[in-house]
Amino acid sequence: MAKTNQWPGIHVLGAGSMGLMIAARLQAAASVVLLRRPGNWPASLQLQVQRNGATTRCRLTQYGSDTAPAPISHLILCTKSIDALAALESLDSRVADDAQLLLMQNGMGSQEAVVQHFPRARIAAASTTEGAYRTAPDRVVHAACGLTRIGSLNRGDFDWAGLFRDAGMEAGTVEDIRWHLADKLRVNVLINPLTALHGCLNGELLDRAELLADMQALGQEADAVLAAAGFRFGNTALEQASAVARSTANNRSSMLQDVTAGRRTELDDITGFLLELARRHGVPAPTHQAVYSRIQALTPAPAHHRTDAAP
Ligand SMILES: NC(=O)c1ccc[n+]([C@@H]2O[C@H](COP(=O)([O-])OP(=O)(O)OC[C@H]3O[C@@H](n4cnc5c(N)ncnc54)[C@H](OP(=O)(O)O)[C@@H]3O)[C@@H](O)[C@H]2O)c1
Repeated sequence: MAKTNQWPGIHVLGAGSMGLMIAARLQAAASVVLLRRPGNWPASLQLQVQRNGATTRCRLTQYGSDTAPAPISHLILCTKSIDALAALESLDSRVADDAQLLLMQNGMGSQEAVVQHFPRARIAAASTTEGAYRTAPDRVVHAACGLTRIGSLNRGDFDWAGLFRDAGMEAGTVEDIRWHLADKLRVNVLINPLTALHGCLNGELLDRAELLADMQALGQEADAVLAAAGFRFGNTALEQASAVARSTANNRSSMLQDVTAGRRTELDDITGFLLELARRHGVPAPTHQAVYSRIQALTPAPAHHRTDAAP
């Protein structure tokens, strides 16, 4: 794919699984700069990308977030949801006031926190079925090529989906990205906490009667909470999550991986967000509260960024 002059320079913040994969792919269409945690990093990273059994190499320009030249006009945020706000704030005045930001975070809550804290930025969010994992600081596996849906949260009007497509990725612009985030949330609130608590693969949720019963209880509560919050779907959370668990039967959910590795999870933006909606709308969600407390007890405390913004 030839690089064109159509696209402005793109900064990618966060050199984890998603950040490395996206930075490497977008290089096919635009100039990309990788931003890492503050510090003095070598000026370029020689990255190995594995995809469909083939390994390619690319060189990425990189900076610590405290040394990147200003101004940053187009930025893709690829940290975990729990780090999103702090990572953006660490860039300080390097980000142009009216910058175009694309938020790649899973779950809900961190996106609204960013919108509140950067009122002049033009912000879009993505919901993606792409899958990547980093095997070393300079190696990433692009495990699943999926679809990335992108939509504006405020005045975001940059054609992010066009850029992704130009770089050979499947992407589309959607009207209501909050609906798509909620659609993914209702799957995540069933699969992630249960696989993390029981140390099981996604597919096992469907094979074990006691886990299926937990999925049913979580699904009924999620349906009631999201309906009260104004979200309408064509099927139940249980149906949707079961289809995903079946098609990803051999996957270990990101929450299971985080709990196993003793890392902070994205629980606050998944179950925590649903519980916040439940509280706001007066809908009981005792099963979600129970799994939230049990996972919280298993993992280090997350940094808080709760917002009062309603979806
Ligand atoms: N990976 C996937 O397949 C996938 C799929 C769909 C959605 N997502 C979502 O995408 C987001 C990123 O996921 P991920 O898998 O890429 O997570 P990850 O591998 O943990 O990467 C996050 C990266 O952010 C960096 N970071 C954190 N705080 C930072 C800061 N202040 N400044 C600069 N960098 C900072 C981390 O640095 P350190 O390495 O130093 O900790 C880490 O490299 C999550 O919300 C996830 O749910 C991921």
